Amino acid sequence: MTTIGDIEVTKATSTRLKDISIDQFTFGKYYTDHMLEADYINGEWTNVQIKPYQPISISPACSAIHYGQSIFEGIKAYRSEKTGNISIFRPLDNFKRFNISARRMEMPEVPEDLFIEGMKQLIALDEAWVPREHDYSLYVRPFMFATDGFIGVKPSGTYKFLIILSPTGPYYNHPMKIYVEEKFVRAVEGGVGFAKNAGNYGAAMHPTAEAKKKGYDQVLWTDAKEHRYVQECGTMNVFFVFGNTAVTPGLESGTILEGVTRMSAIRLMKDMGVEVEERDLSIEEIKERYRKGELTEAFGTGTAATVLMIQELADKDDSLTLPQDKWKVGPAVKAKLDAIREGSAEDTYNWMVPVS
Ligand code: COI
Repeated sequence: MTTIGDIEVTKATSTRLKDISIDQFTFGKYYTDHMLEADYINGEWTNVQIKPYQPISISPACSAIHYGQSIFEGIKAYRSEKTGNISIFRPLDNFKRFNISARRMEMPEVPEDLFIEGMKQLIALDEAWVPREHDYSLYVRPFMFATDGFIGVKPSGTYKFLIILSPTGPYYNHPMKIYVEEKFVRAVEGGVGFAKNAGNYGAAMHPTAEAKKKGYDQVLWTDAKEHRYVQECGTMNVFFVFGNTAVTPGLESGTILEGVTRMSAIRLMKDMGVEVEERDLSIEEIKERYRKGELTEAFGTGTAATVLMIQELADKDDSLTLPQDKWKVGPAVKAKLDAIREGSAEDTYNWMVPVS
């Protein structure tokens, strides 16, 4: 065992990397040799350690399982094409959002050095797992959950924070078919839509499974009051492009996740001279402008999904097809973002944080 800063490090005796090839890096299937783990006990973070990737032991009464105090983040690390060096894309923004989620779920905040330095040290240790190929990266999953073995309903007194790493390729390898959800809802005003808590994803499973049965990849959530205004797609924020203007739902309602890829895409589109409007966008407006030929493209943004084009948008009455020959803004944003992440374009906004 060695110690780096305050983090105890126990190294794995061998690597599992030799048994895996790049074409097996589908999202979420493989994990690197090590993980970071820390405990929150008596009001402080302790037992911070990096150790071989392994199962964790919890009480059957673990309150996260029963009452859902469980939050996570998704971040990606890339290997520069030019230098081979590894950098993480905007981890501070995810760190801030993680603690916003923690506060909403009445969980303790995680200190910046544990989150950021812990992540850097873990990635540096498993750096051989960071893919070199275009569209591939190392997905970083920090998460925290309540660990009290107590089934009374109250905030847990103890928590675990972990970071695990998973080499990954594209989350989806084809343009999306999206079903507009007008029965189930993802989030209500005053609820937890802006937080990245596990329950938001659990609650989406059934509506998404129903949409998949109908032949769609994901749902597009609409607002809880009227099912009129679009919110976000399953695992992505969403943009609709009308000529030179991209429209995405605003964040004021607190029902939408403030995506780091979303804010990066907005910045890059503005740099490209595309107008960006963050505002309410109704399904009627989308359909009407589609009929007039003004809707040229739609795409989703997310850490796992990156920038993903939408080829079809359907609800119970209509199906809108968005032909590939009109796609311009989404592919340009993806190309620029990829170039910054993979080190072939200048990182003007200092989004890439070197691992060492
Ligand atoms: C991400 O894009 O990182 C997500 O968290 C979405 C999903 C894989 C849960």
